[in-house]
Amino acid sequence: MPSADGDQADELHAADPVPDDRLTGDLAAAEVPIGPTGRPMPVLPEPRPISIHGNARVISMCNQKGGVGKTTTTINLGAALAEFGRKVLLVDFDPQGSLSVGLGLNPHDMELSIYNLLMQRDVTLDEVIVPTNVPGMDLLPSNIDLSAAEVQLVQEVAREQTLQRVLQPAIAEYDVILIDCQPSLGLLTVNALTASDGVLVPLECEYFALRGVALLKTTIDKVTERLNPKLKIDGVLGTMYDGRTLHGREVMERLVQAWGDTVFHTVIRRTVKFSDSTVAGEPITTYASSSAGAESYRQLAKEVLARCLDE
Ligand SMILES: Nc1ncnc2c1ncn2[C@@H]1O[C@H](COP(=O)(O)OP(=O)(O)O)[C@@H](O)[C@H]1O
Ligand SMILES: [Mg+2]
Repeated sequence: MPSADGDQADELHAADPVPDDRLTGDLAAAEVPIGPTGRPMPVLPEPRPISIHGNARVISMCNQKGGVGKTTTTINLGAALAEFGRKVLLVDFDPQGSLSVGLGLNPHDMELSIYNLLMQRDVTLDEVIVPTNVPGMDLLPSNIDLSAAEVQLVQEVAREQTLQRVLQPAIAEYDVILIDCQPSLGLLTVNALTASDGVLVPLECEYFALRGVALLKTTIDKVTERLNPKLKIDGVLGTMYDGRTLHGREVMERLVQAWGDTVFHTVIRRTVKFSDSTVAGEPITTYASSSAGAESYRQLAKEVLARCLDE
């Protein structure tokens, strides 16, 4: 891994949309605050209210590492987008079912899950979708049954397109569909990428964050080439950031060095409030509505809207 050095600072400035001379001097600094990623923080537009729903953008939260914030981002980005009036469907595509549990569902009580939708032709999307406590946000739940689908799908015709096929009727109903992927690059994740317009990659701001990212990129490239030419990387999100430590800031610098403007200006700081809200079975946006964590996900929602939804 390259270490932070002077060249990098130049590269950062080269990528700045603002002329360099505006960044010198106290007055300019006050006008264009530098965000936590080391780049000038843009003013994100307030999301426009919309009256017509549909033509959903499908976005997968993807990283084969566990514990990087995929599920947390799915729940809280979804809840923040719903607060802004978007109709949101969350898809739990991890047999561990953390997304479903995080929204207060009991995995043993589920009559139907996404497993039934994938494997049984007579089960419809409407039968499996459940509302959440967040107005405007629904969930396609999952539990351990989904692990059998990974094995059974191998036998199917068009096995990589199964999720895309079953989600098709939801596109006209929702504004955004967020898929919470499992921590692997197996057939379920390939299904998620094939069904998606975009990928959001959460990366924990820790020393080894970038390990394995090359493999993830290769997988995304293969899916783009062979199965889904429209697939784009919507953004890389730094999670569990601690800006008080030099280490945290260095990892962030490396992230921007490696991914440039793909890195969201929004970063999610480390706070125990996220685990607390999971235990409570609700998003942080309702559990601790005015917390910094809730505000960060609202800001991410604005950034996602500006970047790829409100074009
Ligand atoms: N920004 C954060 N600060 C502190 N803890 C976090 C943060 N984001 C997630 N967590 C916690 O870290 C754990 C893993 O997060 P999770 O979203 O489940 O990751 P993944 O879905 O990638 O495995 C969970 O216990 C979650 O509550
Ligand atoms: Mg998860």
